[in-house]
Parts: sequence; structure tokens; C-alpha cells
Amino acid sequence: MTKETFYITTPIYYPSGRLTIGNSYTTVAADAIARYHRLRGADVMFLTGTDEHGQKLQQAAENSGLNPQEYVDQMVVGIKDLWQLLNISYDEFIRTTDEHHVKAVQKIFTRLYEQGDIYLDEYEGNYCTPCESFWTDSQLLDGKCPDCGREVHKMKEESYFFKMSKYQDQLLAHIESHPDFIQPASRAKEMVNNFLKPGLDDLAVSRTSFDWGVPVPFNDKHVIYVWFDAVCNYITAMGYPDNPGNMNKFWPANIHLVGKDIVRFHTIIWPIILLALGVELPKQVFGHGWLLMKGGKLSKSKLSESEERYIVDPVVLSELYGVDAIRYFLLREVAFGADGNFSNEAMMLRINSDLANDLGNLLSRTISMIMKYFPEGLPEAGEIDPLDQEIRDLADQVYLNVKESFTQLSLSDALIAIWELIGRCNKYIDQTMPWALAKDETKQARLAEVLYTLADALQRIAIMIAPFMPQTTDKMFAGLGCDLKYGSECNITWDMAGESGQYPRGIIVKKIDVMFPRIDETENMEKFRKLSADLDSKLAGEQ
Ligand code: ME8
Ligand code: MG
Repeated sequence: MTKETFYITTPIYYPSGRLTIGNSYTTVAADAIARYHRLRGADVMFLTGTDEHGQKLQQAAENSGLNPQEYVDQMVVGIKDLWQLLNISYDEFIRTTDEHHVKAVQKIFTRLYEQGDIYLDEYEGNYCTPCESFWTDSQLLDGKCPDCGREVHKMKEESYFFKMSKYQDQLLAHIESHPDFIQPASRAKEMVNNFLKPGLDDLAVSRTSFDWGVPVPFNDKHVIYVWFDAVCNYITAMGYPDNPGNMNKFWPANIHLVGKDIVRFHTIIWPIILLALGVELPKQVFGHGWLLMKGGKLSKSKLSESEERYIVDPVVLSELYGVDAIRYFLLREVAFGADGNFSNEAMMLRINSDLANDLGNLLSRTISMIMKYFPEGLPEAGEIDPLDQEIRDLADQVYLNVKESFTQLSLSDALIAIWELIGRCNKYIDQTMPWALAKDETKQARLAEVLYTLADALQRIAIMIAPFMPQTTDKMFAGLGCDLKYGSECNITWDMAGESGQYPRGIIVKKIDVMFPRIDETENMEKFRKLSADLDSKLAGEQ
């Protein structure tokens, strides 16, 4: 039997500025999903990358006094560093300036032109540069871009058009017969009612007013519209059309993960390009919600302008709180799919309660009791009490819930389930009172079984949190003294979390550093001040 494959993508981000905690949100979510499927044994392809053409990029390059290629080359270094910092396990990184991508997009464009789906005409309308989107007069809201509310500019130029209308019925039929294609379902309704049902206009797919883009191969006055160029990355990165090895292996993609702002491009323009090419459609486009950033105050004191700038900067946040804490927060705080707030207050609260108190204490209490009472390791199995069985049953249930949550992409529910087990284990310590058992010589077997129940549950927890907090998993394994490894030389599988009694007896636990130090508001503020000042002078030096 051939191995099951799993192909997941993130949007390819514009490298026109520092990436934010918002872009990191999508990428961390995709990473957790990719890691889960890898642990399950699937052959995973996790693609991310950068969308480097278009007017916005050209302007950003001009502002920094570089030519566009130099500019994007420099920005991409910072983006790759960020993904390394956040422990993002992508398999491929595509840049739309990669030669193979440019050539492939040109081939796609030429083919659609030759088969009559692209034609030359004149475009008159409005263009929003930040969104790289065209709008007709009637689509504008109060004369502004209906997506972002910013100024648009009038445009009249010769343009190639893509016959979207030709394929709209076919797309509508596909959406209606594939309820999983656009998720959450509310977004499918929005696309159908707001765009498909009223009827699609043909799309302007080339520009003549600037030149930073993929040239139309048969008319060098034109560059290809950046969104046409960009969405094609999902197949060009798999070698389409000339080296279809990975294409045959991984396409159709299982999930295109995107923010709700760009669902339209992924569920209308992109599938229609694929329909025109005769390529299968992706299995699912999932549009997650928006992370709202209200400045998220750090403390009562007022922030300077440059400090404001870094308050939601993923690099600064990682230094302040630690990478795994950020990853946990992003995926736990907001129900995946819905909008939610990002704030430093909420972040500190989650770290101190969920991570330091609940998980951190459970591990450190368990380890120190085992060290104290059984320095040679836990002895062979004694009798299992109903209370122990309760923990085991709950762990079985949680394991199934987490699996189901990954299937539904309800990532926060997966974490809620795991934390229910953590909470139950902490309560179990209070109920069983190991310190009291330790004083009674006749209760030594019982004491051993209680501590075993805890260590064994912790081992299962460590495996289940691996997709979310990869470094924490390894720290837990180190403390528990088992020879499991995740980050490098991985020897665990998802199934290993499925059963109790896997933790070996007779092994020596080890005291480890506090995994999640409690955050003190005042100290945190001082640290933040220093970090943002350092970053400011570093960035000024690079100018
Ligand atoms: O749109 N909350 O790139 P982009 C949640 N190049 N997600 C957020 C967010 C927030 N506050 N801010 C950003 C583009 N995102 C195109 C994509 S794909 C073929 C081309 C995430 O740099 C979210 O995933 O503007 C959103 O869709 C994406 O970043 C937009 O990134
Ligand atoms: Mg954007």
C-alpha cells in the first residue's frame, strides 16, 4: 500500500514589510496541522512562501531605495529567520521570483490565451494597491475599497481578461456538491451569494502601468496580474507543468489555509484557473478568522511610538514569552475560524495559568515526588485503583477528541481537551495525597501506582502537545527520563498517545528547568522596553 499523503499550504505572504503576529498565526496553525499528520504517519508536504511581484512591492522597494529584486531578497531572509524562530516545519518555500515559477506561470497564461479563455481588451475601473484588487464603480463602498476601506485609484489601460464567467456554473455546481470545499460553511455561503449568484465579471489579468511582475510572454508591454501569478504557486511548487513528480504525488492539496480576507481569491479565481487548465480542484480551502490587535497594552504606562510598533511583533513576542507559549496562545485563545483578540494581557494570563500553573506545576510536582520517593525509578505494576482508571479513561477520551479536532480543524478544542486532562491530573494529586501515602510504610505500592499514573499520563500529554509546542514535548520527555524524542531524531508516533501503560518502569526522572516561568508585569515591561529599543537601533543600522 502506498503511504497516505497530506498537502497543506499557507498563503504566500507579501514581503513588503515585517511580517506580523497575524501572518504568524496562519503559519503556526498550518505547522501544527502538518506536524499532526506527520506524526500520524502521512507523507506530508507543507508549503509556504512569498508573493514578491506587484505594485505594492515595487513601491516598497522604491521607498527603501533598492531595486525590487534586491529588496525582496533581503526581506525573504528575515521571513525565513522568523519561521525558523517559530519552529515552522515547512517542506518547501516558494518565491514567486523563482525561475521555475515564473516560467510555469507564463506557460499557464499562454495556454489559457491559446484556448481562448484569455483575451485582450481595455480596462476601466478602480485599483486598490494594498489589496492588489480591481473594483468596478458599483463595487466600491463610499468610493473606497470594499475590502480594506482604503483609497483606490482610477485605472484605464489595455489589459488581458480572463473569462471567469464561462466557468461560473461549473464552479457553483462543484461548491454545491462538495460541502467540504469551502470551510467554515458560512464562508461558502458568502462566496456563493455575494459573488457567484450575481454572476462573475471577466477578470483583468495583466497590467501595463508598472513592470515588476511576470511578463506576458507574447506581449512584453504587459505583466501578469499579481494574484493570477500568486495562486498558481500551489501547483508550480509541485512542479506543474513540466516536472509533475510531486504534482502527481501531492495534488489535489488537502488544505489551503488562508485568512478570511483572501478566501475570495482562493475559492473563485483559483478554482476557475484550475477548471480552465483541467486540473482537479483542491479538497478544501479553510478561511480562518481575524486576529484583532487593539494595541494590546503591556502595562498602565504609556508606550512610545516605536514601542507601539513592536507590541505585536512576533520576534519581540517570542523573546518576551518564549516560542511555545506564543504558539500555544495563538491556537488556544481564539476558536479557529472565528475572529478574536490578541493582547499582551491575555497572553500573560494564559502563560501564568495554563502553562506555568497547570502544565508546569503538574510536571514539576510529579517529577520531584518521584525523585524523592523513588530515586531508583518506579517499581513494577501494583494494583490499579478506580481513581487511576478514571485518569486512564479520560486520557483515552481526550486522545480521541484531539484526533477529531484535527479532522475538523478546531485546533483550540484540541488544546481545551488536553488541558482538561491536565486539570484532572492536578486534582488527582490532591485526591490521592502522595505525601500522606509516603508516610505510611504499608502504602508504598499504592504510592508507586499513583506516581506511575501521573508520569504515564504526562507522557501521553507530551505526545499530544507535540504539534502545538514541539520544544515543550522534548523538555517533558527529558524530565520524565524516557528515551522518547521529538524535535530531532524523532522516535514517537501519534498512536503512542493512544494507550496507557506505555511509560517504562524503573527509569530515572530528572529535574529540569522551569518550563514556563511566571510572567511578572513590571519585569515584562522593562524587558519589552529594552527589546524594542534594541530592535529599533538594529533596524536603523540596516537602513
Ligand atoms: O494576502 N489575523 O499576503 P499578506 C489573521 N500575498 N490572519 C492574518 C492577519 C490577522 N490580523 N494578518 C495577516 C496576501 N494574516 C497575498 C496572499 S496567496 C496565493 C497570496 C494572514 O502578506 C492571513 O492568512 O497580506 C491572511 O490571509 C494573510 O496573512 C495575508 O498575508
Ligand atoms: Mg494583506
